[in-house]
Amino acid sequence: MIASDKVKKILYGGDYNPEQWDEEIWHEDMQLFKKANIDIVTLNVFSWASLQPNENSYDFSKLDKIMDLVLQNDLNICLATSTAAHPAWMARKYPEILRTEFNGIKRKFGGRHNSCPNSSIYRKYSTALARKLAERYGQYNNIVAWHISNEYGGECYCENCEKAFRVWLMNKYQTIDNLNRDWGTAFWGHTFYDWDDIVLPNLLSEHFAENRTMFQPISLDYKRFNSDSILDCYRLEYEAIKNITPSIPITTNLMGFYKALDYAKWAKYMDFISWDNYPAHDSIYTEASMAHDLMRGIGGGKPFALMEQTPSISNWHPYCALKRPNVMRLWSYQAIAHGADTVMFFQMRRSITACEKYHSGVIEHVGNDETRVFREMKALGKELIHLDNKTLGSKSKSKTAIYFDWNNWWAIEYSAGPSIDLKYYKQILNFYTALNHMNIPVDFISGTDELNDYELVIAPVFYLMNEGYDEKIKSFVKAGGTFVTTFFSGYVNENDKVYLGGYPGKLRDLLGIWVEEIDALPSDTMNQFVYEGNTYPANLLCDLLHLEGATSLANYEKDFYAGMPAVTQHSYGNGKAYYIATASDEYFYKHFLMKLCVEKNITPVLNTPEGVEATIRTKDQETFLFLLNHNEDTCHITAPCDCTDLITDTDYTKGSEIEMTKKDVKILFY
Ligand code: GLA
Ligand code: ZN
Repeated sequence: MIASDKVKKILYGGDYNPEQWDEEIWHEDMQLFKKANIDIVTLNVFSWASLQPNENSYDFSKLDKIMDLVLQNDLNICLATSTAAHPAWMARKYPEILRTEFNGIKRKFGGRHNSCPNSSIYRKYSTALARKLAERYGQYNNIVAWHISNEYGGECYCENCEKAFRVWLMNKYQTIDNLNRDWGTAFWGHTFYDWDDIVLPNLLSEHFAENRTMFQPISLDYKRFNSDSILDCYRLEYEAIKNITPSIPITTNLMGFYKALDYAKWAKYMDFISWDNYPAHDSIYTEASMAHDLMRGIGGGKPFALMEQTPSISNWHPYCALKRPNVMRLWSYQAIAHGADTVMFFQMRRSITACEKYHSGVIEHVGNDETRVFREMKALGKELIHLDNKTLGSKSKSKTAIYFDWNNWWAIEYSAGPSIDLKYYKQILNFYTALNHMNIPVDFISGTDELNDYELVIAPVFYLMNEGYDEKIKSFVKAGGTFVTTFFSGYVNENDKVYLGGYPGKLRDLLGIWVEEIDALPSDTMNQFVYEGNTYPANLLCDLLHLEGATSLANYEKDFYAGMPAVTQHSYGNGKAYYIATASDEYFYKHFLMKLCVEKNITPVLNTPEGVEATIRTKDQETFLFLLNHNEDTCHITAPCDCTDLITDTDYTKGSEIEMTKKDVKILFY
């Protein structure tokens, strides 16, 4: 889709389900899409039941008509493979395709995302359908992307999966002795004599709650295995399609910070990243920025597709709060500001049955173009036509990176101790928010990414660290980089086995500290520390640490460890390594990071009033400075140079005042 020579502008449209409607409505839709300036539809997301009514036959007649109608109407197509919900006949004939839940209950037909990823029947028929679709429609030159399945996710604990898990483990460990050693099965007499002794870790075995396991190594490997199993399903469809239409890019829609799948690994098998953005009613705008940046990061910094967002409400949120006037527009540009090259939605027409009938659509139940949502859609569509191809393919540059790893996420939250309140996402958000609010661009990186492209690398709660990764960090710091990490870092290897020799394990010499103990503070308890003359709270966890070459920048003020270091700095080679031994508030993170940024000559994109986000994308010698006013009132910004707002074609001279009404957006070009 992105960078395809067929695409000349920011694609605008999204999930369209004509199969839920009579044909006469389709023609109305075409007219309304034109009015709304829509130029792409995602088709065929949930049509397996009609495409393959039984085991031996396929029926493409309806889809043929839809494809032709859409082609005649000059719409681009993102063509889905329909494999996110299997047909009822398949479940009846082959119950093995049904998932088993975490609690051991075998599911019956119903819902979606309901197929066992290790079912050979599911794999056979999903791949066959993908192949047939590619054979039948591959020649349509308005297909700009393939969309495999839909929001892959969930887990399965069935017999197929149990057997496949053993095979996955055999490949990984080769011998049962290796597995016993690496997992540390001497604990609680867990020794396995035979691969068949190994069962899936769920409520019937090692778990007593979703995140509470009695044996982390098996639970962690299960997470990896489940993610790989589902990835294999994706890859089978990918290969089948690629063989037939090698030049059409392939994606599947991801879900941002979705825990069950290791997206950093998945990204390696996707032609471009696409994702669905549905902020919760109580989330802050920074969380959407962070998710966009994560999605751009896993894709190696390339532009991504915003595959879905809602025109206004999402039925599945606890409160279906309306997107206030101009918010849909603002959040669409927010995605673009962080690297999106499409603005797409679920759903084009609001369905009339089942659970999504109260989810907004571009066309609402009233069926006309007179709604507020439609008017806003139409207006944004017009702006995107005006923007043309200008921003397409442009990229963001960042000197700062946050390290984020799914394995670490799983391990931290499986850990029994030190605190049930320790959530990886929250800790990442603490650092990200501080940077985002200063308009410092951030890239997300993980295991295989280069550190040397950055000046500042922050790895909050880097608990699980693969053997040897410390060397990568050390050479980055030696060469002059600045590295920041926190409490509960460097503890365990990839099997959650503790590195001996004191915490933070292999990072001890780099950080110049030894953490002797870690104190968990219940949520109503706090310590505090003074950093550069300001007092900040210390909460969640407090490390009790000794300096081994590092300097303390702040000491605890209370409790029996008053006077011990809470923030440290250590010079190492040409660089510096910082350790934050506790969690604090937004003011601290901002203060601390601002200082590092100044030291490293990392400058904000622009200094703006609070709540006005500024990001930059560049292409060749062209710069696009995005300004997003998330506030409820008008703000003024000083033009940093002579520039033109690409949305309104207004010119600004350097130093002049740019007025931004509430929720307004500017794309300053220079
Ligand atoms: C997801 C799915 C869509 C739809 C929307 C509703 O993103 O991919 O099929 O269910 O949620 O918000
Ligand atoms: Zn299964």
